[in-house]
Amino acid sequence: MIHGHGGNIYQLARELGCAPAEIADMSSNVNPLGPPPELMDHLQAHLGCIQALPEAAAESMERLFAEQSRIDADQVLAGNGTTQMIYDLPRALEMREALIVGPTYADYADGCRLGNVACRFVHARETDDFLVDVDRLREQIEAVDAVYICTPNNPTGRLIDVNVIRQLCQDFPRQHFVVDESYLPFVKNQTRHSLLKERPPNALVLTSMSKIFRIPGLRVGFIVGAARTLQYLRRLAPPWSVNSLAQTAVRFLLTNEPLSRDFIARTQAFIADEREFMIDALAAIPDLRIYPSRTGFFILRLPKPHRAAGVCRALSAHRILIRDCSNFEGLSERFMRISLKTTDVNRQCVTLLQTLLQP
Ligand SMILES: Cc1ncc(COP(=O)(O)O)c(C=O)c1O
Repeated sequence: MIHGHGGNIYQLARELGCAPAEIADMSSNVNPLGPPPELMDHLQAHLGCIQALPEAAAESMERLFAEQSRIDADQVLAGNGTTQMIYDLPRALEMREALIVGPTYADYADGCRLGNVACRFVHARETDDFLVDVDRLREQIEAVDAVYICTPNNPTGRLIDVNVIRQLCQDFPRQHFVVDESYLPFVKNQTRHSLLKERPPNALVLTSMSKIFRIPGLRVGFIVGAARTLQYLRRLAPPWSVNSLAQTAVRFLLTNEPLSRDFIARTQAFIADEREFMIDALAAIPDLRIYPSRTGFFILRLPKPHRAAGVCRALSAHRILIRDCSNFEGLSERFMRISLKTTDVNRQCVTLLQTLLQP
């Protein structure tokens, strides 16, 4: 099984003798505003849908997504979270070697390893504030079958200019470009940064429902790509990958577009304000380094001699769970990722860090 994931609220709750819901999970990058309340009401009213099998291939949901994105339905595939695609892609595309732009989400490499695909990495450097060096990236592409790019990137929160990605796709037409936009809805003017509009034929775009609508437990996500390429993924997809409740949720979100749009706009405004507050407040801690982010989480490098493991342990005693980034390839034991939560939790976290990290 995979080894890349971070905080585990269930384990911490057992250790502290409390309920998982009593832990402020700042290690998870889901929407701090929660799911849209109207969605929760709708799901409660439609719980009975679990008494029947859902559509085996979630085709209504795919059609709705395609209509909204103004693309053909055969260019969309829905699955059990984008995780399903991340793990199926290496086998479906018969990759031999993949290039991963890091430091990034570990499941791309884990999915490749499970599919016996070799991985090489190009890591954005701390000295460049984790901005990707596109020239270094270019040097590696010819030798691989697929390139994985996460934008905005988990954990750095950095966006890659969408025109740069388009140009790479055009310059390397033999390679597949897997572009994970799961955190893009948290970014203001998100459509401007998305590859979904004017998508090159060799790009595959991942879009998760889990993060922005805070429904990670429902497990639902999409991949958009050329119909011919998606056929290979469809062959691997088990029937009923998207359960009835998840299909009900996505139908609701896609057919109530103004509601979803308002919810996303409110989220973006909230995230921008909270991020500014937190980054400003933490910047006052001597030798703490915070890296610019465009989304609902950011990374920081702790002042010496602090290590993420110790600081996370100290915060967990206060029922705050933070992601220790030491197991991200390309980061070190001094890095942590903080995901924004409610204003109260964010303030409590700042106060604790100020106390813990005083020289
Ligand atoms: C960058 C990124 N992509 C994809 C996923 C998987 O999300 P899901 O399978 O819920 O769509 C995650 C989850 O943390 C993630 O961080």
